[in-house]
Amino acid sequence: MRGVPKVELHLHLEGAAPPGFVRSLAAEKRVDLSGIFDESGSYAYDGFVDFLRVYEAATSVIETPEDYGRLVRTVLEELAYHGVVYAETFVSPDFCGGGDLAAWREYLASMQEAAAAAEATDGIVLRGVVTPIRHFGPERAKAPALCAAETAGDWIVGFGMGGNEAVGNPGDFAWAFDCAREAGLRLTCHAGEWGGPDSVRGAVDDLRVERIGHGVRAIEDLALVGDLAERGIVLEVCPGSNIALGLYPDWAAHPIERLRSRGVKVTVSTDDPPFFHTTMTREFERLADTFGWDTDDFAALNRLAAEAAFCDAETRKTILKKLEAADV
Ligand code: ADE
Ligand code: ZN
Repeated sequence: MRGVPKVELHLHLEGAAPPGFVRSLAAEKRVDLSGIFDESGSYAYDGFVDFLRVYEAATSVIETPEDYGRLVRTVLEELAYHGVVYAETFVSPDFCGGGDLAAWREYLASMQEAAAAAEATDGIVLRGVVTPIRHFGPERAKAPALCAAETAGDWIVGFGMGGNEAVGNPGDFAWAFDCAREAGLRLTCHAGEWGGPDSVRGAVDDLRVERIGHGVRAIEDLALVGDLAERGIVLEVCPGSNIALGLYPDWAAHPIERLRSRGVKVTVSTDDPPFFHTTMTREFERLADTFGWDTDDFAALNRLAAEAAFCDAETRKTILKKLEAADV
């Protein structure tokens, strides 16, 4: 399955940092982060809110534009190894310069340079989706939105919110999403992961997003499922993440197949792969094992993800060509 080409639309950049990468930065900076790892060296957390705490602790040692450049190189090497030909990653001005535009530009330049180097060596294409952090609150979402608007273009192609869905309502963040939309950015938002169907409705109706991060709990309201299918809203589904965080007990209980069979456009991603002991290869293997997805299903999945990607038309054409070449 590793050699099958893949398109990944939902990947948090810091969440993709291997524990070894974070440990070596912590050692260089003489920061004691031992509390966030277990005996085997993996990230250790207890449930979703604690996961966010560990995520932010790990992120605290990824500090400079150079650190972020190194992170992009490390992550893209791993993704390319797993057959990913195109990925979108969530990047956050909150972590990259604290919302300051001049600083954000420096981080962005370093990340883009690293992405261009990876594209030149491995052919993998990366684009960025700016993300405010929901539990930092609506006021703090404004600076990332302005940073996103100012740097919207070929590389920063979207805007989407992550963080704790229990905080506030989607509509509280309308200013930030309107600002990003007016700058020409395409929109997504985490919803229907820890929140139920109303949270998904809020993201679609109040923030006018075209994709939803996760969205799987829409399955609890079949009228909403029908609505998502009819409106062509794309779900960035991350089954391994949902199972690792305890949203579903196992793969058989995961709703991805039920959503797909009801006509919802589902795509597959890893979210924060080392935190959840997953990779795109593993996600594909589990989908094949659990639901019997075959070559045609994966080809359709890839095509749908490429169609839903926020990149420009020329880039999309290139990705689709790569996928087609592998289909035959
Ligand atoms: N940030 C990183 N991973 C996340 C997830 N699964 N949900 C919400 N915010 C996140
Ligand atoms: Zn996510």
